[in-house]
Amino acid sequence: MPTRSTEPGAELVLGIESSCDETAAAVVRAGREILSSVVHSQIAEHAPFRGVVPEIAGRSHLREILPVVDEALARARTTLDQVDAVAVTHRPGLIGSLLVGVSTAKALAFARDLPLVGVHHIEAHAYAAAMEHAVAYPLLALVVSGGHTALYRMSSPTSFVKLAETLDDAAGEAFDKVASMLGLGYPGGPALSALAREGDDRAFAFPRYRPRAGGAGFSFSGLKTAVLYAIRGQDAGAPPPDPIPRRADLAASFEEAVVDVLVAQTLAAARAEGLGTITVTGGVACNARLRERMTAAAAELGLRAVFPSPSYCTDNAAMIAGLGWHLLRAGRLASLELDAIAR
Ligand code: KG4
Ligand code: ZN
Repeated sequence: MPTRSTEPGAELVLGIESSCDETAAAVVRAGREILSSVVHSQIAEHAPFRGVVPEIAGRSHLREILPVVDEALARARTTLDQVDAVAVTHRPGLIGSLLVGVSTAKALAFARDLPLVGVHHIEAHAYAAAMEHAVAYPLLALVVSGGHTALYRMSSPTSFVKLAETLDDAAGEAFDKVASMLGLGYPGGPALSALAREGDDRAFAFPRYRPRAGGAGFSFSGLKTAVLYAIRGQDAGAPPPDPIPRRADLAASFEEAVVDVLVAQTLAAARAEGLGTITVTGGVACNARLRERMTAAAAELGLRAVFPSPSYCTDNAAMIAGLGWHLLRAGRLASLELDAIAR
């Protein structure tokens, strides 16, 4: 029978992620070597409702979690006998979704007498950039997802100081809402970005939020309202014209405004903090325009911008297992009392 005789530093961690609408499991060695990463997306289940329905999400996680864990172990050509620890997202997220992953991880840890590690979803997104690239700390981490837009100073894979966050919508949420206004499907980010490629990004002069001197932070609600007015005229309650004229120009101008705000705030923070490396993670880090503009703007200042591959930008469990390994090494273990926390 295979035994758990892993040498210290080469531990195999099983990661589990179920905070929103992806059920995911992964096996990662030593925090970086991804042996498998399996993601079951619920997009088709939520699409008819144009957004994530928490009740549907929880039930879908419950159906998928064990097959997804089995698949991750099989693809890694390993078994639970060889796994050294179980890491699970326990915050933040939808409570009914988090509970499925947390309960599964606890059951596996208890049954196999394995160490259990609780991982913060946003911190795991930020860590994802260090899995495929060698990065030097301290660094500036921009996390841009459907639920979060924030800047952190990271002085190690496990130490975070939040420098700024959004005052209202997350960048991905703004992409999703504007995509919906333009009649695009859910989730809107990728569809809006594809449409934007056919449009003129200077067609509409949308507002760019700038914090006051010395301040920091993002805001996208004014921009979102400006797009709404551009579609419906000054009566935002009026039904949208059908078809919406100049949709591609609207998409391109909106995308450019979001990218402008993200790039300007991130570079300002990097300079203020004296940091030479910028990591960009979370679902919106898939955005091609953001990748291109951030990379060029950072290079102009002699800074380096690092992005994970798209499949490690969106929700996945490799990032959970990866950061989980660092927490394991640091002795930051959870007990079987580990709680799921929505915020
Ligand atoms: O990180 P993620 O998978 O889930 C959360 O933790 O929120 O991010 C999902 C978000 C969605 O809002 C989606 O529209 C956005 O990432 N997104 C994009 C792109 N791909 C995904 N936004 C803009 N451009 C993209 N190419
Ligand atoms: Zn996420």
